[in-house]
Amino acid sequence: FLIFLFLSIHCIPALFHSDTTSEFSVRLYQRLQAAGGQDNIIFSPLSVAVALGMVELGARGASLEEIRQAVGFSHLLPGVEFSLLQNLTAALLDDDSHYVIRFANSLFLQEDVTFNPEFLHLMKKYFRADVETVDFSESSAVAEQINKWVENHTDSKIRALLSADDFSSVTRLTLVNAVYFRGSWKNQFRPENTRTFSFSRDDGSEVQTLMMYQQGDFYYGEFSDGSQEAGGVYQVLEMPYEGEDMSMMIVLPRQEVPLASLEPIIKAPLLEEWANNVKRQKVEIYLPRFKVEQKIDLKDTLQELGIKNIFTNNADLSAMTDVEDLYIGKAVQKAYLEVTEEGAEGAVGSGMIALTRTLVLYPQVMADHPFFFIIRNRRTGSILFMGRVMTPEIIDPNDHAFDSM
Ligand SMILES: *[C@@H]1O[C@H](CO)[C@@H](O)[C@H](O)[C@H]1NC(C)=O
Ligand SMILES: *[C@@H]1O[C@H](CO)[C@@H](O)[C@H](O)[C@H]1NC(C)=O
Repeated sequence: FLIFLFLSIHCIPALFHSDTTSEFSVRLYQRLQAAGGQDNIIFSPLSVAVALGMVELGARGASLEEIRQAVGFSHLLPGVEFSLLQNLTAALLDDDSHYVIRFANSLFLQEDVTFNPEFLHLMKKYFRADVETVDFSESSAVAEQINKWVENHTDSKIRALLSADDFSSVTRLTLVNAVYFRGSWKNQFRPENTRTFSFSRDDGSEVQTLMMYQQGDFYYGEFSDGSQEAGGVYQVLEMPYEGEDMSMMIVLPRQEVPLASLEPIIKAPLLEEWANNVKRQKVEIYLPRFKVEQKIDLKDTLQELGIKNIFTNNADLSAMTDVEDLYIGKAVQKAYLEVTEEGAEGAVGSGMIALTRTLVLYPQVMADHPFFFIIRNRRTGSILFMGRVMTPEIIDPNDHAFDSM
């Protein structure tokens, strides 16, 4: 143990350090996993942290402390988290980046409430965010207005986030949080190598999907938690997006091992271990196309992680406004992610890939069964997305229009 510590200290400049919110990210995942049955999962830990940062700016007392505690900011000097969140977001929004990322975070507040100018100033400074105002008593109109706003901030990828039922006459404050990402792989898949392929779900059923294929240089490693709990050895593949700042890490158990037996071992330090131990090498990859989308009621989920006060009558959001007793009535996140060969529409082959396992010279990552993934910023360690694919894009094998493509 001592030797390991010694080595770590000497290797620090080369090591990836998980960002402050990794622990929070993993706890959120475990919550969603517990509630998620056999569904795909996608959420944005960074975006949740940013949204909570916006609330924290307006919070005091227990409302503020619970957020700091749960998100993992309590070791920082008070207020440093805002600068941290600002920096993590700025690192994603570089103008010369090769990817598209859309964050739409806003607090929607009741019209006619007067906000503390200092709060509005800090919202702009740290989050480049305006506070939007709406009239919650008009629930249909308000849903439409918020949905329009979100749509407009996510290249129309996220629609119909809220409905009239989400509001009542006493709603004063709603936290809205949407995120959309589209990156180009550094090593793209050639669409002509994509084939229909069988994907085995954890419940034993099979679906037909479009399997992308390539051989190339990626970061790859094989890991084991030393017990049989996670089904023994599992694979970790890191695929950078163009520009190499962002990457997707895929964690795949062995074929016969359900993802559910790997999920419990996922912990923040493990994310760091994966990132630091994958090695650049030639890998043969079979990855299904997928599109994951999820709407999360953050109110329920965050309460389970200890952030309760801001949702009750005892909330102290007095740094936002001192004229009204505010609490958060609704908090939602919707995330959307699409993984393709990159851009190329159509031109998809049909028929099975002829498997020639005996000729394989490189490690093979065959994602024809459920896997876990994260998309992170490799410089800052911040996690833009975390999720799992239980069911990829399903195609109908009898669809002959597809055969002729
Ligand atoms: C954010 O970035 C600025 C400028 O690079 C730096 O001075 C500051 O210390 C950073 N804040 C945190 C919390 O890392
Ligand atoms: C959409 O966003 C742009 C830029 O933020 C803004 O100029 C425009 O007015 C918005 N449109 C709607 C319909 O909200």
